[in-house]
Amino acid sequence: MSSEQEEAKRYQEERDLLKRQIEYHNELYHQRSAPEISDGEYDRLKVRYEEVIHKLGQDEDQLTLSIGDDRSQGFQKVRHLEAMGSLDNTYSKDELRAFTERLERLLGKSEFEFLVQPKIDGLAISLTYEKGKFVRAVTRGNGVEGDDVTRNMESIEGLITELQGGPLPDVLEIRGEVFMTSHEFERINRQRDKEGLSRYANPRNLASGTIKLLDKNIVAERQLHVRLYGLGFCEPSIWQNLSEFTDQLAEWGFPTVEGSAVCRDLPSIWNAIEDIGSADLPYETDGAVVKLNNLLDQKDAGWTAKAPRWAIAYKFEAEKGYTRLLRIQLKVGRTGAITPVAELEPVFIAGSTVSRATLHNADEVTRKDIREGDWVEIEKAGEIIPQVVKVDLEKREPDSQKYVFPEECPACSTTLIKPVGEVVWRCPNAQCPPQVSRRIEHFVSKPCLNIDSIGPSIIEQLIESEMVKTLSDLYRLELEQLLALERFAEKSATNLIDSVENSKSQPLWRLIHGLGILHVGATASKLLAKEFGSLARISEADYDQLIGIDGIGGVIAESVVQFFQDDANIALIAELKSLGLNVEEEIETGSSSKNLEGKVFVLTGTLPDFGRSEIAERIEQQGGKVNSGVSKKTDYVVTGESAGSKLEKARSLGIEILDQSGILALLNED
Ligand code: IVH
Repeated sequence: MSSEQEEAKRYQEERDLLKRQIEYHNELYHQRSAPEISDGEYDRLKVRYEEVIHKLGQDEDQLTLSIGDDRSQGFQKVRHLEAMGSLDNTYSKDELRAFTERLERLLGKSEFEFLVQPKIDGLAISLTYEKGKFVRAVTRGNGVEGDDVTRNMESIEGLITELQGGPLPDVLEIRGEVFMTSHEFERINRQRDKEGLSRYANPRNLASGTIKLLDKNIVAERQLHVRLYGLGFCEPSIWQNLSEFTDQLAEWGFPTVEGSAVCRDLPSIWNAIEDIGSADLPYETDGAVVKLNNLLDQKDAGWTAKAPRWAIAYKFEAEKGYTRLLRIQLKVGRTGAITPVAELEPVFIAGSTVSRATLHNADEVTRKDIREGDWVEIEKAGEIIPQVVKVDLEKREPDSQKYVFPEECPACSTTLIKPVGEVVWRCPNAQCPPQVSRRIEHFVSKPCLNIDSIGPSIIEQLIESEMVKTLSDLYRLELEQLLALERFAEKSATNLIDSVENSKSQPLWRLIHGLGILHVGATASKLLAKEFGSLARISEADYDQLIGIDGIGGVIAESVVQFFQDDANIALIAELKSLGLNVEEEIETGSSSKNLEGKVFVLTGTLPDFGRSEIAERIEQQGGKVNSGVSKKTDYVVTGESAGSKLEKARSLGIEILDQSGILALLNED
């Protein structure tokens, strides 16, 4: 191979690695609302990706890579009338200057007004008003189409259903940000602590997870807020400047962003940014947004593939520290995932001492060429686990060795595997001791079987003494055996046996959760228990049946099917059943008013006299279920004016179609 070919090969490998990583972090951020890296770190991945692509002379589909996609199952998809892009990020005064100079070249003039606003760390929302009436709220989605979250937005303070006064366009998209205050975030986490549930990572992700909940009562219970800051589609056009429009928003009574400023030059932009950085605002900000104020100028400046040229984000840096990486440790998780962790010389960053940082996965260690003994830069952003940003190559010892990711499990020496398309190496041995411990810890934890007399040290003892090798062994423990162990007395041993015994009658969803099926948390467990009623029926369900359930997506469905294909799991369930665990859902005794019990409805189009949410509520009160997609399992489709593809699908599947009087008849008389 020539040296050029070798170089090209290296770049191709790096490109593939980066692409996998970016896709992985996109999914964590947008789909699961649980990022592992800071925005700055994410940007660095993207910048490097673009560099590598450029070096290779290629042009990838960068839009999907940079914007991500928040669309999720269970919501109707709606196209935005004007695209919702993302923003390019800057981190320095020089980059800001480059932004204003680019606009000068682009528009051929040098006098502009800029509007500088705080960048709220929440999730983007678009509110549509037709002739002043609120019609829907849609998330950003993939920028072109998003999820209809109208029902959930209705409980948010500050949403106005009818605009009064001022000019009213025929169609108007108002853009803004939904967020949760740190105070509310703390309240929810304290509640989670009490219930023994894991804490949420940060307010942004909890807000974006909340707006995507299918149960609007939980949404109303958690306090979300909104601030409006921008203009999407507007017909006919009315305003000349963005600041005039935001003034109008305030006049209508909307909550708008605090502390925004109109600026005419770089020094005043910089002052405004600094003011935002030091202001005490009711929401978390991760920077400031600088926008051209004149709407015609905005139009002239236009867009790149993913972001407007008329606006830019200035991001505040995460706090950093500098220290020595002592050792790379490998942690084995409950599902066998191997996570490399950096053990650090302790260093004080942003209010606390950091002595460990996650290295995420093998790809990450390779890409950054992180080695034991290196001097490294550590970053701590928000509630995200500290991470190694980069290695100080100048300080690297000449005899340092490249880190070689082991091929075998550090705990049980089984050969590790990496499923195609995943970034994580796993130990496939279900009997691997740390996996067994983590599985049992999970099984006995509060949100599962809730056996509170068994903590981590007892689990270690039970495993070491070989009394417990699988979950079912917990139910075979005997008093005499326990008494033979150190630290056990008559009382503690009896307590343990009793609480294990009591756990047998826990509701089915807790057992499902306790089984530790990959990706199946408490919410999915409840859905599965409710839908199928018994473990036996869940084990027989196929992929299509599973994704037909509102709230169960492809990843979960796949994982459930796989779990029940494993004979060891089937055997475990049979054992648990024969040991007396409850494997059936208790049937609720239906009251006479629940006459729609078990019936599945889909609502589409606009009914003449009722909002969709009102009808949905009445259906649910009578025991029916409202899904968003039509499938073979749908019993009725309720249609109104301008019903679209759902109606066609219902017809093609031969599903009964009801109009307003039809559904009212069913609700009142059936
Ligand atoms: S203007 C075409 N203004 O930041 C996009 N965005 O990183 C124009 N954001 O998707 C967006 N505060 O969710 C704008 N004052 C603000 C903002 C803001 C927060 C969010 C928004 C956007 C993301 C881009």
